[in-house]
Formats: sequence, structure tokens, C-alpha cells
Amino acid sequence: MSSQPKLHILLTRQQIEDTVSKLAAKVSDDYRDKHPLLIGVLKGSFMFMADLIRRLDFPLEIDFIRLSSYGTGRESSGKIKVVQSLGIEVKNRDVLVVEDIVDTGLTTAFLLSYLLKKKPASLKLCALSDKPSRRQIPVTIDYPGFTVPDKFLVGYGLDWDEKFRNLAEIYILED
Ligand code: IMP
Ligand code: MG
Repeated sequence: MSSQPKLHILLTRQQIEDTVSKLAAKVSDDYRDKHPLLIGVLKGSFMFMADLIRRLDFPLEIDFIRLSSYGTGRESSGKIKVVQSLGIEVKNRDVLVVEDIVDTGLTTAFLLSYLLKKKPASLKLCALSDKPSRRQIPVTIDYPGFTVPDKFLVGYGLDWDEKFRNLAEIYILED
């Protein structure tokens, strides 16, 4: 039997709820009259997306994109490709990308340039967590949630080997 990895709580349900509410308030101020297209990055952002849009009481659309980084375990290789593409046209839309976490920045930077080529009216980024100490490429987060330490995190959509996405809190996974 494999030993269970140890988890230490980093962000409680209440902290997540408060931060998602603050982000939703800012997004509402900026997008209320824009009928935006929110694009969630699968799989990690699904829970954040669901909680965020429940707090947005104006017309919007959502779509999801899935990217793969060819990486294994905890390291992203930096070679990114789209493995599940969008179903809604981005051209002339006010697009808000919804990310779980910006770590090296490689995935997000790839996605933003991929989307820019599709000529959106505007393109901004909302990320629940930001791990700036790991950045390899600069990424501007227009709507940042938490700044987190250089630790591997799980829960609230984030996985380790596809596990722990269902946890309602965010935990540090001990090595
Ligand atoms: P990047 O290194 O910024 O390209 O991050 C790529 C993706 O790796 C993120 O969107 C997450 O899905 C995943 N990721 C980065 N850091 C963590 C973490 O601490 N736990 C779980 N997934 C992570
Ligand atoms: Mg992700």
C-alpha cells in the first residue's frame, strides 16, 4: 500500500469565499455592461469558475479550454498545446481568462498569446492564486486572488496526479 501524502491547510473555505467575493465585485464593476466571455482553463479552474460566476449577476458566457504541458508530476515542461479547444468565438469579445494558479507563467503566457491572435475586443486575466517566486515569464494578473508560497498546492480544483481536486480548501502537499 502506498503511504498517504500529508496535507497542511493553507487557505480555508472562508478565506477562499472572501477572496472570490472580492474578485467578483471587481469583475462586476468592469464587465457589467460588456457581456463578457469568461474562459476557464481546465481542469484546475472549474471550481473557482463556478463560484466566481455565481456571484456575477449580469449577462455573460463561459467556455473552457484544456491545455497540456507534456509535463509529468509537479514540473511543467513549457511545451504547451491545446488539447480541448473553445466552442465560442473570441473575436471582438471582451474575454476574461479564469485560471486556478499562475506558477511558472508558461501556460498562461501561451494561452494569452493564443487568444490574442483571435482578436478579442479585450483580454484580461483573473487568477485565484499566484506563485510569483516560480515565474519564468512575466504575466500580468489583472484580477489576482492570493499570493501563495513556493509549495505544491492541492484542493479547490488543484490536483496532484488527478487527486484532491474535490477538497473545498487549499492545502500544501508535503513532499
Ligand atoms: P504554469 O507553471 O504557470 O504554466 O502552471 C501550469 C499549471 O500547473 C497551472 O495552471 C496549474 O493547473 C498547475 N499548477 C501549478 N502550480 C500548481 C500547484 O501548486 N498545485 C497544483 N497544480 C499546479
Ligand atoms: Mg491550470
